[in-house]
Amino acid sequence: MTGERPVAVVAGGSTGIGAAVCRRLDAEGHRVVVVGSTSVDEGTAVADGLDEGEFLRADLGDPGAPADIVAHVEAVHGRLDTVVYAAGRTARIPHPDIHAVTDDVWEPILRLNLLGPWHMIQAAEPLLRKSGNGNVVVVGALAGVDVGGSSIPYAVSKAAVHHMCKLLGGALGPEIRVNAVAPGFIETRWTADWNDFREQISQAAPLRRTGTPEEVAELVVGLVRATYVTGQVVVADGGLSLLP
Ligand SMILES: NC(=O)c1ccc[n+]([C@@H]2O[C@H](COP(=O)([O-])OP(=O)(O)OC[C@H]3O[C@@H](n4cnc5c(N)ncnc54)[C@H](OP(=O)(O)O)[C@@H]3O)[C@@H](O)[C@H]2O)c1
Repeated sequence: MTGERPVAVVAGGSTGIGAAVCRRLDAEGHRVVVVGSTSVDEGTAVADGLDEGEFLRADLGDPGAPADIVAHVEAVHGRLDTVVYAAGRTARIPHPDIHAVTDDVWEPILRLNLLGPWHMIQAAEPLLRKSGNGNVVVVGALAGVDVGGSSIPYAVSKAAVHHMCKLLGGALGPEIRVNAVAPGFIETRWTADWNDFREQISQAAPLRRTGTPEEVAELVVGLVRATYVTGQVVVADGGLSLLP
């Protein structure tokens, strides 16, 4: 393997939680490949701010993209140790409005939130197996644990990806660990206009506030380092899910 530093791919690393993960992995000594699709300026700025970072443009809704990313990583860096999959999308549809949920709503959500990480892990598996600490962390969501979320397809996609991580934790050991984090309300562009929900959480959640991308990144990096943990879904929600 070329290079002493471990190499991480952060899918959806241009903005929000993924960008915070890139910075935190960089601080831990990883070379970080930041993958984004439309936020090119943001992704380039994240990569430029890292000690050894690189921005790669790819549409993770395209099933062939992960193989291209991994081929690039192998050619340029010669190794791959960590994959963090933070890319995601939703549609905001009240749950009772089931007729608004057409297949055109389901398909892109499942493609990016479920098949995206599946293809990414499939493509990365041979290199991760050689790493010595091959590991994957998928950013799921509290919506995939509890009944709630911005739409039923989003919540289902996150529940499915959590289960996929458990199954892969069982299937890919001992060389590769697979875990997920399930954030509650985190302050990113995603939640920027969710003012009512922010207010409710600030009043009712045990920790009385919403979370930051850096707090989720801390948990992600904890799982990267947690060499005896696999197949787990760790919730980071300020205690919101404890409420009756
Ligand atoms: N914020 C929250 O409260 C919250 C709560 C629970 C879970 N999450 C999850 O956290 C993850 C990150 O969300 P965020 O809050 O950090 O919001 P965000 O800043 O909007 O991040 C979404 C990321 O997904 C990337 N992405 C979207 N479509 C893509 C595609 N086709 N190909 C490649 N990348 C794509 C975006 O990159 P481009 O802009 O370059 O496309 C962006 O970096 C998501 O999976 C979300 O479900 C967020």
